[in-house]
Amino acid sequence: MEEKNIVKMLNKVDKILLSSIETNELFSSEVELKYGLERAAVINSARKLLSLGLLKIESITETVLRVTPFGKKYLKDGLPECRVFDFVKRNNLVEYKQLFFSVPMDKDELNAAIGVLKRLSAITIDGGKITPNLEKSAMVDGQNAVLQAVENGQEPNYEGVNDLIRRGIIERVNEIRDKFVITQTGLKILKDSEFDVDYIDKLSPSNIKDWKNLKLREYTEKPEILNSLSGKLNVKTKFISLIKDAMSSMGFVEMHSNYVESTFWNFDVMMFRQDHPDRDIQDTVYLNGGKAHVPAKLLKNVKEVYEKGFFSSKYNRSIGYRRKFDTSKSNSLIMRGHTTATTFRYIHDFISKNKDKPAKFFSVDKGFRNETMDNTHLLELYQIEGVVYDDNLTVSDLIGYIKQFYKKIGIEKIRLKPTYNPYTEPSLEIQAFSPKLKRWLEVGNSGVFRPETLKPFGITKNIVAWGFGMERMLNLKIGMADIRDLYGAYTDIDILREIESARVFSEF
Ligand code: PHE
Repeated sequence: MEEKNIVKMLNKVDKILLSSIETNELFSSEVELKYGLERAAVINSARKLLSLGLLKIESITETVLRVTPFGKKYLKDGLPECRVFDFVKRNNLVEYKQLFFSVPMDKDELNAAIGVLKRLSAITIDGGKITPNLEKSAMVDGQNAVLQAVENGQEPNYEGVNDLIRRGIIERVNEIRDKFVITQTGLKILKDSEFDVDYIDKLSPSNIKDWKNLKLREYTEKPEILNSLSGKLNVKTKFISLIKDAMSSMGFVEMHSNYVESTFWNFDVMMFRQDHPDRDIQDTVYLNGGKAHVPAKLLKNVKEVYEKGFFSSKYNRSIGYRRKFDTSKSNSLIMRGHTTATTFRYIHDFISKNKDKPAKFFSVDKGFRNETMDNTHLLELYQIEGVVYDDNLTVSDLIGYIKQFYKKIGIEKIRLKPTYNPYTEPSLEIQAFSPKLKRWLEVGNSGVFRPETLKPFGITKNIVAWGFGMERMLNLKIGMADIRDLYGAYTDIDILREIESARVFSEF
């Protein structure tokens, strides 16, 4: 390999490794402390430099002191002579025999300790009585200090070392250490002027003017540490904001409403029959206590259409359900079961008040269902709701919007199937093909609102609308088996990290 290329290959780690080795041999274990570099990175660099013959390893043998396995037990309690001396000092004068009862230590150890203290002239024994020799205190305590110093890898500065070695408490051992040493070739390359080129790693208004002549630092891989330290948005959060962007780009305006809703906006306004299994489709979560406010005039209109229908023209008429509508059941509080409740609030607040203006609204928001959690169901789901109000809308327009949206998200293989909703006619279920499960999945529902649902607002034009399941869509995109991996209390953060959002959303 050409020298120039080799130099180019060297990254920051190599540079430090090489240049510091020149003056001071670098022990790999010191790298982290000294340079704040990751040891693994340095080892990789070293390996590369070794294979290029720029570095070599030399082994050196060093003799070091070490506490023996036997000596370890004194690290905590202190050496026996120190403990005995302590006792003697505290009592000033001690009967020789008393020691055996007072210092918990076996006899041989005690005798040895007394021997050491005598040798150090730290005690005097006279007629079975022991007195401490206080000037020797520092010397005796020094014994423990030696032991601690050896344990901490420091150089002990007391001649008692040999005594402790003799007693088998510390020992000298040979330790082999590997040193990196730069080779002649390495030295030559280091001197190469190219190595000293200061690459630019930040562009600024002043240097960018001369961009053609800049020596820019090349990007290597993104350091692993950045992946683990940087905060990230949950993939679902990202997905939702991309869906919102997609809807906005199609000219839709976002709607908002509350999670807590009334039975009126969730059911009645959409002509769900009272006391009818239609309402069970959603496994509604009912809330205790409290009553919702329901607009009186609208409630009256809904009741009328529900009971008797209406006659606007020969082609726009209904016979109603011909059953009683109980208004006292309309103000119960529930957790919104679908975001179509939001759609009807907007039909009321905006569309019915500007009947000449076309309108397109959307929301990406939660619906709540009293279901058992499993790999495809949570108690809450995000729905992508869309609603279009315009002249002469037909089911073909609806199909067009659905196809356009799924295409934008990057899901091409979809099909539509007739279905039933109390509030739409015709109604279309949307199915998408899952390559992973190798079958068609229900991913959404849609339709043209029934005239009965619009009559109470005085609306005679068609409105088309849909609700897509966000989680199903995301699962199709990232091929996830269990919805609980995505969010909620059971998410696995490592799985979330693995989902490379750039790959998932590249089609947008
Ligand atoms: N509300 C329906 C659902 O929860 C979706 C839908 C919205 C259907 C609008 C038709 C029209 O599945």
